[in-house]
Amino acid sequence: MLEKKHVTVFVTGGIAVYKAADLVRKFIKAGAEVRVAMTESATQFVQPLTFQILSRNEVYTNTFDEKEPENVSHIHLADWTELAVIVPATANIIGKMANGIADDMVSTTLMATTAPRLIVPAMNQNMLENPATQANLVKLEGYGYTIMEPDTGFLAEGYEGKGRMPEPEKIVEAAHQLVLSRAVDLPLENKNIIISAGGTIERIDPVRYITNDSSGKMGHRLAEAARDLGANVTLVTASKLEHPFGMNVVPVQSAREMQSAIMDKFETADIVIMAAAVSDYRPKTQADKKMKKAHQDIQILLEENPDILATMGQQKTHQFLIGFAAETNDVEMYAKDKLKRKNADMVVANDVSKEHAGFNKDTNEVIIYQPDQEPIHINTNTKAEIAKEILYTAMNSIKL
Ligand code: CTP
Repeated sequence: MLEKKHVTVFVTGGIAVYKAADLVRKFIKAGAEVRVAMTESATQFVQPLTFQILSRNEVYTNTFDEKEPENVSHIHLADWTELAVIVPATANIIGKMANGIADDMVSTTLMATTAPRLIVPAMNQNMLENPATQANLVKLEGYGYTIMEPDTGFLAEGYEGKGRMPEPEKIVEAAHQLVLSRAVDLPLENKNIIISAGGTIERIDPVRYITNDSSGKMGHRLAEAARDLGANVTLVTASKLEHPFGMNVVPVQSAREMQSAIMDKFETADIVIMAAAVSDYRPKTQADKKMKKAHQDIQILLEENPDILATMGQQKTHQFLIGFAAETNDVEMYAKDKLKRKNADMVVANDVSKEHAGFNKDTNEVIIYQPDQEPIHINTNTKAEIAKEILYTAMNSIKL
């Protein structure tokens, strides 16, 4: 959602300026194009050069430093901006924004832009609680600007209090949410999508288990892509990856836990994507205490797990079911067999023996099989891009 978005970070003079540098890096990592404007006092904390290197763009500090004769720089920057993030936002800039004061590069650009604004106040607790600051924040909210709640914790003044700048990843998350809330024509809006991810864990005893090489990356990328297309996403995950934001995440371990979490939501689901590598078997018994060494060979008897996708295939009414087939050989034959056997609407197949595809990789190469349709080959790309292609193909088939 932040990919190629023009984000301007307006840095004002508080001790949290050093954290704004990390925020710029995180916006770049999320794919945004970033420019930075700083107030004179912000430059007392951190040199503009830091932000120039991180944003790979010249930093704006002076309204009258007109670098390009054909442009008025603060208007040019204001027009370029698609999302304005004011961070750390001091009581001073909050006061200026609330009361229409424009007297430096930051405040004039903020006055001139029509982009959504995300204000991240960070200051001393008493300054934050000052009735003037509080009244200004209420005013800014009334203008339709988004204001992040400051964190409570150890302040630079040496005591605990409210007023800390939230961590950069939380700010990127809030920015993402703001952009998503303003997006129009989201093709998966109001659609309920369940996505499973990761390799399930089947316990032998409290400290040992059977699992597989699946990292959960493909499932998590699918969940993020569906979220960015406006869907209500439930991610049922056995993966150790960080939980993506903006969706309902249900952590599970075993195949049976995964099945129960999915079936809870199945009736109201529009699309279900089984990207998880579900263990076909589980130990028939699970020891409730750590098993001790027996000084002889032992056997672990395995019993079959339910086939979640096949169960849904039998029970589906309107749901569009997507399965995965991770194969090392005869990909087409196995994929078509799974499509039929599990009564799925689509099977995404990949050859996990390939260098750039499959388990635990950041890239993938897949072939999409659907009943009575020619297979669709999606060339090697990042799992994030492959996820989008899978969703677009499904949307095309459902005629969304
Ligand atoms: N699947 C499932 N429940 C299982 C096993 C698999 O829902 N118990 C789903 C997977 O999430 C995937 C699809 O079925 O979307 C195919 O999984 P795979 O393990 O390749 O298929 P299996 O039927 O287990 O066949 P095999 O292991 O013999 O290849």
